[in-house]
Amino acid sequence: MIEQRISPPKTRIDVTVDGSTVSVPEGSTLLDACNAAGADVPTLCYLETLTPINSCRACVVEVEGSRTLVPACSRVAEPGMDVQSDSDRVQRARKSVYELLASAVDLSLAEPETVRQMERYDVDPERFGEGWHRTDEVKIQDDLYIRDYDKCIMCFRCVAACGPDAQNTFAIDTAGRGLNSTIATEFDVSLPESACVYCGNCVAVCPTGALMFKTEYDLRTSDDWRPDDQHVATTVCSFCGVGCNLELHVQDNRIVKVTSPMDHSVTEGHLCIKGRFGWGYVQPEPD
Ligand code: SF4
Ligand code: SF4
Ligand code: FES
Repeated sequence: MIEQRISPPKTRIDVTVDGSTVSVPEGSTLLDACNAAGADVPTLCYLETLTPINSCRACVVEVEGSRTLVPACSRVAEPGMDVQSDSDRVQRARKSVYELLASAVDLSLAEPETVRQMERYDVDPERFGEGWHRTDEVKIQDDLYIRDYDKCIMCFRCVAACGPDAQNTFAIDTAGRGLNSTIATEFDVSLPESACVYCGNCVAVCPTGALMFKTEYDLRTSDDWRPDDQHVATTVCSFCGVGCNLELHVQDNRIVKVTSPMDHSVTEGHLCIKGRFGWGYVQPEPD
């Protein structure tokens, strides 16, 4: 008989956000409290399916009694906390975060939400000059995905997805220091020589296009990536009995990439190589 576990209801605590009191379950983060209050708090490294990484500081808020700004995505809310989610100090800090990033990396393919927040904070990408923009060559080492670290904001989502939060393969991690730090395989060997098992989970969580499915990269390179002409068909993976939901992104009646919904209880957006890349059998090779 399958044991059914029912968690006891959590105690709720009150937190004040921008002058309004909200009630959230004990253990919630300040980001949860801000969201409950309807505050618009940006995030970059945070993703709801990953353990908070706490690397970007886009989500900082002001907490009464705290000398420094506090990352909302990882700070656990305490009863009676008084939070300012968008004070002058917070706005200046967020603007600097985005301006430093835009000075160092290519954000042209960043998620629409990042673009929206940059417009909101009137970000000047030229503020710190362009002299230290990264100019890495795109790493194309197989037919499945590419790595373009010119676009990498070092959010570490890919490392978390490859490691303890999903894949437990630990094929990639941070290498180097300061402005030369990057994400790399062990000893920077090529992907096919590394521990990578090609699940593509790192690609699925990358917010900037630094990691990109090769199919998308090729279509973008030939100026033929047309999201407006694509539709998404949801189905269940046919390779085994686990029941992973697949989202087939289709353009011109051909699959151009496969993702899985982040709110799907089986996958939380993560797949294995078969579901992610094993769709070639449903369509002939292009001429
Ligand atoms: S494809 Fe999977 S195993 Fe390979 S680096 Fe990405 S997350 Fe790790
Ligand atoms: S490759 Fe993408 S997911 Fe990984 S650290 Fe860089 S921006 Fe983040
Ligand atoms: S989103 Fe909170 S530190 Fe990055």
